[in-house]
Amino acid sequence: MAHPTSLPAWKDLEALAATTGRRPMREMFAEDPERFGRFSARLDGLLLDYSKNRIDEDVMAALLRLAAQAGVPAARDAMIGGARINVTERRAVLHTALRNRSDRPVTVDGHDVMPEVRAVLERMKAFAGRVRSGEWRGATGRPMRNVVNIGIGGSDLGPVMVTEALKPYHKDDLAVRFISNVDGSHAAEVLKLCDPETTLFIVASKTFTTQETIANARTCRAWAVERLGEAAIPAHFVALSTNAEAVAGFGIDTANMFGFWDWVGGRYSLWSAIGLSIAVAVGFERFEELLAGGHAMDEHFRTAPLEANLPVILALIGIWNANFLGAESYAVLPYDQYLHRLPAYLQQLDMESNGKGTAKDGAPVAWGTGPVVFGEPGTNGQHAFYQLIHQGTRLIPCDFLAAAHSHNPLGEHHLMLLSNVLAQAEALMRGKTEAEARAELEQAGTAADEIARQLPHRVFPGNRPSNTLLYPRLDPFTLGMLIALYEHKVFVQGVVWDVCSFDQWGVELGKVLAKAILPELSPGNTIGSHDCSTAGLIKAIRALRQ
Ligand code: F6P
Repeated sequence: MAHPTSLPAWKDLEALAATTGRRPMREMFAEDPERFGRFSARLDGLLLDYSKNRIDEDVMAALLRLAAQAGVPAARDAMIGGARINVTERRAVLHTALRNRSDRPVTVDGHDVMPEVRAVLERMKAFAGRVRSGEWRGATGRPMRNVVNIGIGGSDLGPVMVTEALKPYHKDDLAVRFISNVDGSHAAEVLKLCDPETTLFIVASKTFTTQETIANARTCRAWAVERLGEAAIPAHFVALSTNAEAVAGFGIDTANMFGFWDWVGGRYSLWSAIGLSIAVAVGFERFEELLAGGHAMDEHFRTAPLEANLPVILALIGIWNANFLGAESYAVLPYDQYLHRLPAYLQQLDMESNGKGTAKDGAPVAWGTGPVVFGEPGTNGQHAFYQLIHQGTRLIPCDFLAAAHSHNPLGEHHLMLLSNVLAQAEALMRGKTEAEARAELEQAGTAADEIARQLPHRVFPGNRPSNTLLYPRLDPFTLGMLIALYEHKVFVQGVVWDVCSFDQWGVELGKVLAKAILPELSPGNTIGSHDCSTAGLIKAIRALRQ
């Protein structure tokens, strides 16, 4: 694999950044009334408008050459084909197999994984059905009213985001809750809402060794045992994991375990058994619709030409903004309250995947890789951080997401929401010139000296890029498409940036150090060798806790 900066298209894009990259989008829109049609793409009901970027046909052609020269089509086929593309862990990357709705086999080293995938889905279906119907009874014979998923990272963020997004499809008498943080306050507050007799705990951990999850699972287990006795555990605890031995060691019968495989990355795992809380919350049929949406995006990604391929386009626009126009971050701005956890979910997906500083060949990268991802639902964010996006010194590309229809058609609310999302994207693109700002002040009868004072502050530079994703309604199928769209976007970017998007070695060091520090926080124990800041803080904590 060549480093991206040595590819001919990279050089072309550097040249284009100095010309097209500096042109005002206002001008480009004025020149070309067909710009929206030219720079938008659709899949089923999903529309991606990327016309509000500093691009023209030449930029798009160069970006597409970059994708081709970086080997995106071959890399995509290798991933979907079950090759061990996670090079540092020598694993296949097959979240697409989890939602493969076709009858095509998917093989890893010649072994078809689809029969096992289908078998686990069948077990999930049966289990979710029993919990939802009330057939699954607790130790005292009562049906479940609370389902608590205990997990962190990919074993939490996907299920939280999806269950929140699909709230309109929940069963009224079954609450799905989540405990992730090792901060005991998280477990304590969730347990306050639960009755042990009607609470089912789903312990979700790919490795079943994650400190936070095991600590939280132990606490919940002790809480249940204290109230119901040890014999109650089988009726109140199930596990989702690849590690049957650790599950059994924890005391959960492996008959109550739903398995998955090392080729499912944590941040790509909501489609696997890790999605059990989703299936319980919305029912297995809806869960299958989610899978079908993911599969529809996979098929599109697999077969559509690069120039019409939504994940490829989204990835290339991100690369243009980051590597050629200098953006260090991007904002995810769902104008959809049900997607309020999407920014947090995408933070893990994007930043854990492409937050890398080493190329696949082991050389340090000399080009920008994964951006900082942040966001909040609109319109809340407008009243918080949008000021910086409009007038700050940094370029922050935005992804806006919105549904044409609300699940809750209350008065004018939804049209107000939609008018806001369109207005923000338009304002970012257009900005406000000095002449426009002056005219406004004059119209308001502002005195000349006051106009001179205020004018510089009222000018918006504009020319700030954004994408808009519009869909008919946030249903399970659409959500599946959206998630898979972002997964593949991140994948394509990782291919171009020549990094391994599927490991996360960077999170290990902190885990190891935390283990060493834990005993040092207790009085009497020796404090090991640390820098003076860490040692000073350990001593300060010990003093405060005396
Ligand atoms: O610490 C990072 C991480 O490994 C994530 O990649 C993963 O999603 C999370 O921890 C949880 O891991 P597990 O499912 O094994 O508990």
